[in-house]
Amino acid sequence: MALLELIKKRKSVRRFLDRPVEREKILLCLEAARAAPSACNSQPWRFIVVDDPELKKRLCERAFRGVYFINTFCQQAPVIVVIVSEKGKFLTRIGGMFRGTKYYLIDIGIAGEHFVLQAEELGLGTCWIGWFNESWVKKVLGIPREKKVDILIALGYHDKQKAKAAHDREPIEKIASFNAY
Ligand SMILES: Cc1cc2nc3c(=O)[nH]c(=O)nc-3n(C[C@H](O)[C@H](O)[C@H](O)COP(=O)(O)O)c2cc1C
Repeated sequence: MALLELIKKRKSVRRFLDRPVEREKILLCLEAARAAPSACNSQPWRFIVVDDPELKKRLCERAFRGVYFINTFCQQAPVIVVIVSEKGKFLTRIGGMFRGTKYYLIDIGIAGEHFVLQAEELGLGTCWIGWFNESWVKKVLGIPREKKVDILIALGYHDKQKAKAAHDREPIEKIASFNAY
């Protein structure tokens, strides 16, 4: 499939089928993420794939409690991918402080989208999840307290017939220009 077609076909999936995702497919998504560029080639990420149903249930019960309840749909997703933001290289941290830019977040965004687009190509649905109880995610998965978990990805098969229409996007003229702001 042409890349632009694939990109436009992807949309957030919030209703999943009760069907496990093959490990080979998850590994392909991880391979796509692994190939992502990053500032100074820092690769400041670690992907924890939660596909054990009991563990995933426990994780979702805790992560989407209280104010985070809007994401309880994640309980239906057969896989939750937890992206741990690792420390970048010294140079990117110093450079980031100097510039006021969190390079590691840009890096994680790129790697995550590689993952998501590979999943799309394999017929899997995804949803980026930024609203969750981080301390519980860390507790359930034994992630050290000093680490940061900025984002999760829900992953699984979905009923394409029931897919919602794609969200609108701003027109090109509004988001881009040539040669000046
Ligand atoms: C960084 C980030 C965080 C997001 N967090 C959530 C979330 O917590 N819950 C949710 O349902 N969707 C979340 N989304 C999905 C967005 O709502 C969705 O991408 C946006 O509305 C555009 O829709 P589309 O993905 O179907 O094109 C998140 C997306 C991004 C990129």
